[in-house]
Amino acid sequence: MNDLSSAEDLLIAADHRHMIHPLHHAKDHEKPRVFVSGEGAILRTADGREYIDSLSALWNVHIGHGRKELAAAAAAQMEKLAYASAYAGSTNEPAVRLAEKIVNLAYPNMAAVYFTTGGAESNESAFKFARYHWKRLGKPNKVKVISRRYGYHGVTLAAMSATSLPNYHKMFGPVVPEFLQVAPPYPYRWPGNGDAGVGAADAVEEAILAQGPDTVAAIIAEPIQGSGGVIVPPASYFPRLRQICDKYDVLLIADEVITGFGRTGTWFGLEHEGVQPDLFSFAKGVTSGYLPLGGVAISKTLYDVLQDAPADEKFMHAATYSGHPVCCAVALANIDIIEKEGMVDRARDVGAKFITNLESLLTLPNVGEVRGRGLLAAVELVEDKGSKAPAKGLGAKVVAEAGKRGLLVRLRAAADGPPASGDVLCFSPPLSTPEPILDQIVSILGESIQAAA
Ligand SMILES: Cc1ncc(COP(=O)(O)O)c(C=O)c1O
Repeated sequence: MNDLSSAEDLLIAADHRHMIHPLHHAKDHEKPRVFVSGEGAILRTADGREYIDSLSALWNVHIGHGRKELAAAAAAQMEKLAYASAYAGSTNEPAVRLAEKIVNLAYPNMAAVYFTTGGAESNESAFKFARYHWKRLGKPNKVKVISRRYGYHGVTLAAMSATSLPNYHKMFGPVVPEFLQVAPPYPYRWPGNGDAGVGAADAVEEAILAQGPDTVAAIIAEPIQGSGGVIVPPASYFPRLRQICDKYDVLLIADEVITGFGRTGTWFGLEHEGVQPDLFSFAKGVTSGYLPLGGVAISKTLYDVLQDAPADEKFMHAATYSGHPVCCAVALANIDIIEKEGMVDRARDVGAKFITNLESLLTLPNVGEVRGRGLLAAVELVEDKGSKAPAKGLGAKVVAEAGKRGLLVRLRAAADGPPASGDVLCFSPPLSTPEPILDQIVSILGESIQAAA
C-alpha cells in the first residue's frame, strides 16, 4: 500500500465513522470514489483515476469543472463583503445585479427573483408564493399543489410531497396534505394510441375538477422530467396545460432546476414550448455548482400583488442566505461565461449531434428508447423491444461496466409507476464538453451495455 492509498483508506474509514451522505446506505458506500480534482468534463479520484463526468456531477456543472474565473469572483467578493443580510430594509449589489440579469434572460412576463440556496428550497418558496398569491386575492382555500408522477422536486417535506418517485416517500411518509399527483406526459409509456401530451394535460384538468378549482393553487412541472428519466413531453402538452391553468386560475410553476441556464439549448426549458410559466424555480446551473444558490422568479402579475400588500399581509418567508453576496457574484461570473462562450447555442447544436449518436445504440436489443433535448438525454433499457417489458437491474450493471471504463453514468432505476418503466441511463454533460468526449461517452456506453447484457 503506498502513501496515497493509505491516506485514502484512512479518509474512507473516517467517512464511514462520521459522515452521513445524501441517499445514505452503508452498503452503497463501502468503497466510495474520493474525488479530488476536476477539469472540464473530467473528474479525478484520489487513486489517480480519471472519469468522464457525463452528468455534470448532479446535472449542475454547466461550464465544466475547474474554471478559475469563478474562484476569482468568489475570492474578490469574499474579501469585499462576504455576507450581509438581504432581509427587507437591506440589500447588496451582486444580488440585485443577478436578479436583474435573470429577469432579463428569462420569459418576458417575469419581473422579480427571490433567492434561496438550492432546488428544494426554491420549490418550497414557489409553493408558498402560490398560496400567498391566492390569499392576497381573497381565495384562501386555493392551497393544493398538483405534480406529475416521475417528477423530482427535491426532498424537504413539501418538495418531497411533490416529488413522485415512490422510493423517496417510503421511509418518510406521510406526505404533506394537499399535494396530489397525476399522470406524466411520457410518450414511450403512454397506454394506448392516444397523444400523451393531450392525455396528460387532460389528467390535470380532471384532477382540478375533482378537487374543486377553488382549492387548487398550482401545478409544478419540470419542462423535461430529469431525475424521473429525462422524459420529454410531446409538443401538445404545455400549451394545453397553460390553457387549463388559465381556465381554472391555477398557477403554473416550472421547475427549471435542471433545465435552466442553457441545458436544453435555450436559456430556460419552456422556451421550446412557446409557453410562459407564472413562476419558475431554479438552482444548479445558476452557479454551475461552484457555490450553492437557487431561487424563484415570479411574473409581473404576481409581483404586483406582492408589492401592493398591506402591512398585515407581509410575505413572512425568509432565509439567512437569501441573496448571499458571494453566491450571487459567482452566479454572475458563471452566466458571463455561459454567454461569452456561446454555451446555450452549443448545447442546442452539439446536443443534437450527441442525441443522434446515442440513437445508434437503438440497434442493441436492450435499448428501447433514446430521448432528449440539448445536452440532456436518456437511454431507456428494456427486456424486450416489442413488448417494451421494463429492464430491471440491467442499468446498475451498465453503470458498473461504464465505471470500469472511466465513464460516470447516472441511473434512474426501473419504477412501478404507473406507468411502469425500465432502468433509464441519464446524461447531462457540461455544456462545454468537447465533441470527442461526447463521442467517447456514446462508445463507452455501447460497450458497457453489451458487456452488462
Ligand atoms: C428538477 C429538480 N428540482 C429540484 C431539485 C432539488 O434540488 P436540490 O437538490 O438543490 O434541493 C432537483 C435536484 O436534482 C431537480 O432535479
